[in-house]
Amino acid sequence: MNRDQAEKRAAELRAELAKHSRLYYVLDEPQISDEAYDGLFHELKELEQNFPDLVSEDSPTQRVGGEALSGFETVEHAAPMLSLDSSAEAEAVERFHQRVVKALGEGATVEYVLEPKLDGASLELVYRDGVLTGAATRGDGRRGEAILENVKTISAVPLRLRGDDRPVPGFLALRGEVIMQIDAFEQANERLLEQGKAPYSNPRNAAAGALRQLDPRLTARRPLDIYVYDVLAADRLDVASQWETLQALKQWGLRVNPLPEKVDSVAAILDYHQRMIDTRDDIGYEIDGMVIKLNDLAARVELGATSHHPRWAFAFKFPPRKEITRVLEIIASVGRTGVVTPVALMRPVEIGGVTVARATLHNREEVERKDIRKGDRVRVQRAGDVIPQVVERIAEKGKRRGRKFKMPARCPSCKTPLIERGPFTVCPNGLECPAQLKGRIVHLGSRHALDIEGLGEETAKILVEKELVRHLPELFEVRAEQLLELEGFGEISANALIEGIEKGAHAELDRFLYGLGIPEVGRTVARDLARHYRSFDAIRAADEESLQEVPGIGPKMAEAIVGFFAEPGNGEILDTLMDGRVSLILPEPKEESGSQLEGLKFVLTGGLERLTRDRAKELLESAGAKVVGSVSKKTDYVVAGESPGSKYDKAVELGVAVLDEGGLVALLESKGVELSDG
Ligand code: IVH
Repeated sequence: MNRDQAEKRAAELRAELAKHSRLYYVLDEPQISDEAYDGLFHELKELEQNFPDLVSEDSPTQRVGGEALSGFETVEHAAPMLSLDSSAEAEAVERFHQRVVKALGEGATVEYVLEPKLDGASLELVYRDGVLTGAATRGDGRRGEAILENVKTISAVPLRLRGDDRPVPGFLALRGEVIMQIDAFEQANERLLEQGKAPYSNPRNAAAGALRQLDPRLTARRPLDIYVYDVLAADRLDVASQWETLQALKQWGLRVNPLPEKVDSVAAILDYHQRMIDTRDDIGYEIDGMVIKLNDLAARVELGATSHHPRWAFAFKFPPRKEITRVLEIIASVGRTGVVTPVALMRPVEIGGVTVARATLHNREEVERKDIRKGDRVRVQRAGDVIPQVVERIAEKGKRRGRKFKMPARCPSCKTPLIERGPFTVCPNGLECPAQLKGRIVHLGSRHALDIEGLGEETAKILVEKELVRHLPELFEVRAEQLLELEGFGEISANALIEGIEKGAHAELDRFLYGLGIPEVGRTVARDLARHYRSFDAIRAADEESLQEVPGIGPKMAEAIVGFFAEPGNGEILDTLMDGRVSLILPEPKEESGSQLEGLKFVLTGGLERLTRDRAKELLESAGAKVVGSVSKKTDYVVAGESPGSKYDKAVELGVAVLDEGGLVALLESKGVELSDG
């Protein structure tokens, strides 16, 4: 290949990689497999190795490679990164609204955009001629630390903006929030604890920490995420409102939070606030409030800002998820994997609507590090679904403290001598240990596993203690009559539990897999495994090599999975479970070519070059898609050719995915649809 050819191919590869990266990270609708992506990536890397002068700043190969930086230079922001005025009180919101109304004159229509207040690290992104050339932390609001190299490793940050749908300003400084999804946060903490290091106290600290010392070799697939929500500065910008700004950001290929809403009353603000509080545990990342922003950008200028915060925005916080309470006792609790965890039993406190009386102290080293003892005053917090944790001790002057916590020598449940494994203390007795059996039952019945209502800690404990369940499979043999003999069970609760167990016995493969508590297998990995193999037996039989072909599964996970199935005790349990006690719902097979786009709705607009509109329609229909005439929320894709019409604008307004002709061709090809006639 000569240099010209290489240059052309490199450009093609970059465009292709940028497109798929956007489909995957920004739109959440991947069109090619991870392997296919890696293939393109490696081809580009090789080309650049052979022709080093072809390496460009925005090449996706430049995401990885940089060593983690230690010292950072500080840079001035394109515009001050202000803070927000805030309160958790509804009255304060009412007052904010009144101030806005007064400033804009009675009778003016006041429209707000409501957004979740993301609990992460604020970041400035600078694009010059569409290429990412700068990134900085918020710092003191005027100057922050330059962390471009680190930010480039975040796959959700585009290295080059798309100008296809809307021209990109020559200079564009943006503001967004870098967050760590709660799954990734828990994984990161597990890893830290395994290495005997202190865990992060919350996803925000984890995100901020990771940003400043990103290790490109991190195995987690999506360790950091970003939502962009504001234009800090631009040399020209044709948007008139916050709502339009969000649309523009999306069109440029940036990741924009899906939850914003446009409203025009305080009542609607209060309603949004309540809905966000109700759903904050389910969205997968931490939010600590909502932000109310005046929609009209011209009106914002009228209102102006103080040196600290703009007068056109307000953060309406949620009740805090940290509370102070007192440790009554520290006990050693044996979990389902045999790891013995120090747990603080505390005077119950309500945290974000949930009463908390227990919190984890992780392991003996953590108890030591935080120096928590019986009787101490402590700060406790919870995030998402995560088990509450003791954050820190609050010193009390002149108060005599209790004795230091010591791990017991024997398992508190089965009295087997405990062993030490790195920073962990472990009961080696496996499922013969009642506490481990109880833990396995609770996990199997938990919300994201078989979702068996009524099967909590207490119930599981009784089932094990009364020997109704001596082995995991016996859970599915429990009868209502047996439950009725136990204290605390009446006709209704006994029948409800049995019904729950029966329902749970017919579960989706991924839920069942997750519920088994295989080391390293969280919900995401369970889903990936289920989709890939589509049969439980196939997963059981898979060797390490095969497992590593599943996107997202590395050698360590593969080893843990094979190890789990190879353990004779587990094998026996699984054989018994699969012998009529549990029946699994398997994921739909990936359809072969012909019905690959089954059920998807397409709208065609504008002129096509390579295909005629009729031919495109025919091909789409042959793949099972429907081609319809008008764009609605239910449309899956709008294919926009040359000079597209109003359908295109509609698509943008509704946030429907837009493909150009190249995108359509790639999509069809990726589904194995032959493009040539005949
Ligand atoms: S707007 C001038 N929108 O909350 C407008 N901020 O003190 C400034 N934050 O440091 C910010 N989510 O990092 C805005 N949707 C959102 C946000 C958000 C989180 C952060 C921001 C800021 C802090 C408020």
